This record gives sequence, C-alpha cells and structure tokens, in this order.
Amino acid sequence: MQIQELKLLNFRNYNQLSVQFDKHLNILYGENGSGKTNLIESIYVLALTRSFKQVNDKILIKNGTNLTRIEGIIQNKYKNTYRVVITNEGKKVKIDKTKITKISEYVSKINIVLFNPNDLKMIKDTPSIRRKYLNIAISQLHVDYLKLLGDYNKLLKIRNAYLKKMYLNGNSLQSYLQVLTEKLVDLGMEIYEQRRTYIEQMNGFITDIYEEITGKSNLYVKYISEYDHKSREDLLNLYHKNLKRDLLLGKTNIGIHHDDYVFLLEDFDLKDFGSEGQQKNAVISWKFSEISMLKENKGITPILILDDLLSELDLEKIKNILKFIEEDIQTFITTTEIEKLTSLLINKEYKKYHVVNGVLEEVI
Ligand SMILES: Nc1ncnc2c1ncn2[C@@H]1O[C@H](COP(=O)(O)OP(=O)(O)OP(=O)(O)O)[C@@H](O)[C@H]1O
Ligand SMILES: [Mg+2]
Repeated sequence: MQIQELKLLNFRNYNQLSVQFDKHLNILYGENGSGKTNLIESIYVLALTRSFKQVNDKILIKNGTNLTRIEGIIQNKYKNTYRVVITNEGKKVKIDKTKITKISEYVSKINIVLFNPNDLKMIKDTPSIRRKYLNIAISQLHVDYLKLLGDYNKLLKIRNAYLKKMYLNGNSLQSYLQVLTEKLVDLGMEIYEQRRTYIEQMNGFITDIYEEITGKSNLYVKYISEYDHKSREDLLNLYHKNLKRDLLLGKTNIGIHHDDYVFLLEDFDLKDFGSEGQQKNAVISWKFSEISMLKENKGITPILILDDLLSELDLEKIKNILKFIEEDIQTFITTTEIEKLTSLLINKEYKKYHVVNGVLEEVI
C-alpha cells in the first residue's frame, strides 16, 4: 500500500500543499517546528480520520481558517482517492466520489504503522493509554474489533448506571442485573480472547526484532487481565462476589476495562527499569511486529512512518532499524539531522524533502 499523492488545505501550519511521494522511501528533514510531524500527522488523519496525538480535531485546522482538507491518492490493489474534511461542525469523509457516512467503514481501508516519540507513552504512561494503543493495533487487524469494544463500553455504562439505581432504590431487579452481567462477561471474554491472541502473536515477532536491533534477547510483552484463565462460570462467580463493592462504588470493579500489559526485558519491567533508548527500541520493535502481523494475517503491507527516528538512539541501533526497512514498504522518516541520516542510507534510493515553515521542497 502506498500514498502516491497528498494534497493539504489549511492543515496545521500548511496552507496548501500538493506532493507526490516515492514508492519506497521518503525523507523529510527540517528544523524544529517546521512542520515535519504535522505532515505525517496529516497522512495519519487521512487513514484514521483523527490524530495520533490526543487532541481535538479542531486544532488540526490552520489558525485563522475554518476548514481543513486532506486528500490522498492511495495505490493498493486499486487506486483510490481518500478525502477527510474537518470543520468546526465536524468531519466528513469520502472515497473517490462517494460520501461515507459511517466513519467505521472508512477507517480500516488505509493501513499505517506509525512511530512517534510520543509513543513511549505506551511504556511510560497509564494502563488506559496502553489499552488505547492495543485497541488501535488490533482494530487494524480485525475490522469488527472496535464495534465489539464499543458494545462493551456501552453495556458497561448501562450496568454502572443500574448499579447506582439499585443502590439508591434498594428494590431494583436483581435478575436484570444478572442479564447485564452475563452479556458483559460474554463481550468481555471475546475482547480478552482477541487481546490475548494479539499479544501472543506479537511475542512471536517482537523478541527477535528487538534482538536484531539491540543484540539483546528476552524482550517480551506480558498481557495482564482479570479475565486471565477464567471460565465463564468463574467470571460470573467473581462478579457475584464483587456485587457489594460494585453497589457501594456504583461501578463495575472487574473487567477487561482494567486490562494492561508490560514490556519485560529479562523479566524486568521496562517502565521502571529501561533507559529512554531501550524503551524506544522496544516500541519500535512493537511497530515492526505490527507490520509482520498485518502481512502474515491479512497480506497487507502498511505504510510505515518513523517520526524523529534518530533522537535518543545510537548509530548502531539506527543502522539496525534501517535494515528492517524493506523495499516493498513505503516508508517515511523525519529528522532534524539530515547528514547523519543520509550517511546511513548510502546504497538506498529515496526522495528527500526539506520542510521549511509549512512548505515542502523536494531536494534533488
Ligand atoms: N492549527 C495550527 N495552525 C497553525 N500552526 C500550527 C497549528 N498547529 C500547530 N502549528 C504549528 O506547527 C509547528 C509544529 O510543527 P511540527 O510539530 O510539525 O514540527 P516538527 O517539524 O515536527 O518539529 P520537531 O523537529 O521539533 O519535531 C509549530 O510551530 C506550531 O505553531
Ligand atoms: Mg516533530
């Protein structure tokens, strides 16, 4: 899968842009604040209709204007034009000439694997941030996953509201709560299974990739869930045991909404124990594993974006990472240190763009 052409209107610090990318490797370089991350963010928004940063859509609209448009020609099996328009009122998406009313029917079409330095949050931050990353990764592989998750979250809200009502009224129907609990467990078990399988498959790749980058083996990802190794019956008993606490607190205290995972290196948690560089290599290994999983499971070659690749990493690791960039994957790399990067790409062909204040100049 490749993005052949990208057109922007009023996106972040870009007024108007029209650019044709290389099929294989594209290097974007420029000073801090010039618009490198903004550009790759626009590609991400084109694919997923929202940013990888936890921001409101409106911030994507260039200051002083009221609409941003991102348009891209994507070459996959077929060639299609994708378009996302964001205004203060909301967003609209189109594939070729067809308006798509359900965003969920749009988002699974363009596959992107992106690394941004912010992704270290995957290790450093809270379980809920980690779940977000996992959810996005799984949804790229399984189209129905987000709907399943949406159904679970809806039901969780209903159950929590009902718990509060029961606590206040005292006489609400226990049998209705039982119905909600059983349905919640059924959906929770499906999500648990998808997450468990995903992380298991991830471990089939990530250890080797991390070793090839760093020379150290024994990195793996451990999934942590209250559903672990429990049958439906076990789970229903567990919810039953927690009923008093659920009622007192007015919320469901057990479930996959508490799931977490950790990156273990030689059995130590990288969160507390790893250096910035080790954490970055682990997250990049995760991203390359995502690519392998997309290829293996769906025959999809996603677009790979490595934002600010060089920072925090020593030359040896960067060289090893660049070895993973295969000919058949369209790749974008951004950097402030162009000489350093190009000195590592001597036998490779690439297009090079200089980013200056929201303008892209191809450098030949
Ligand atoms: N909505 C917006 N309208 C106009 N300018 C914006 C908007 N949002 C962000 N910017 C500008 O975009 C610039 C940041 O761009 P970006 O994050 O792409 O930089 P970068 O080239 O990736 O820099 P670094 O090397 O530091 O990562 C800032 O100068 C910011 O003021
Ligand atoms: Mg940046």
